[in-house]
Amino acid sequence: MKPLNILAFSGSFRKGSINSGLVRAAVSLAPEGMAITQVDFSDLPLYNQDMEAQFPTEVAALKEKIRAADGIVVATPEYNRSIPGVLKNMFDWTSRPYGDNAWSGKPVALMGAGGSVGTAVAQSHLKEILLYLDARVLGQPEFYVNGFTPGIFDKDGNLIDEKTKEYVARLLATLQKTIAS
Ligand SMILES: Cc1cc2nc3c(=O)[nH]c(=O)nc-3n(C[C@H](O)[C@H](O)[C@H](O)COP(=O)(O)O)c2cc1C
Repeated sequence: MKPLNILAFSGSFRKGSINSGLVRAAVSLAPEGMAITQVDFSDLPLYNQDMEAQFPTEVAALKEKIRAADGIVVATPEYNRSIPGVLKNMFDWTSRPYGDNAWSGKPVALMGAGGSVGTAVAQSHLKEILLYLDARVLGQPEFYVNGFTPGIFDKDGNLIDEKTKEYVARLLATLQKTIAS
């Protein structure tokens, strides 16, 4: 049988990002029957409704990828108690034009690494967006990492803590069950 096709988005484009580190961990910890691919969406223009008349090819291609996916993983940093603009821009584009939202019914698992609250506030905002977009966002298990605790990530943003890797594996197993249900 073909493995589940899962896309993974990191809300940070910076080199050494700990959220991209979470995505890399997810890619390598994918359970049997699941293949996870990280999506590079750094080529998306800033959303401008005028551009919908000549819909950008990058956005159309990303929407097709999302539609073809069995599920999605998003690792978000917390920026000023919400999600980074690059992620909001991606959701705004891929939910357009009106009536052609790529997220409807899509199973989505969230994770995030940040400061003391471990992106809890950002993920709460993200859940609101995804509920509005009619995605099937997992309520559990919650996944909040304080990325500044020594021993969780190495200097390049790679996840090195075994306990946190177990949490990643648990989240992916739940996503797999949700997709099957
Ligand atoms: C613009 C900006 C706003 C931030 N706001 C918050 C915040 O509200 N809460 C928090 O925990 N960390 C905040 N941080 C710190 C980030 O959690 C930290 O930079 C984190 O490493 C970013 O994730 P990344 O390593 O994946 O880039 C902020 C960082 C930036 C650059």
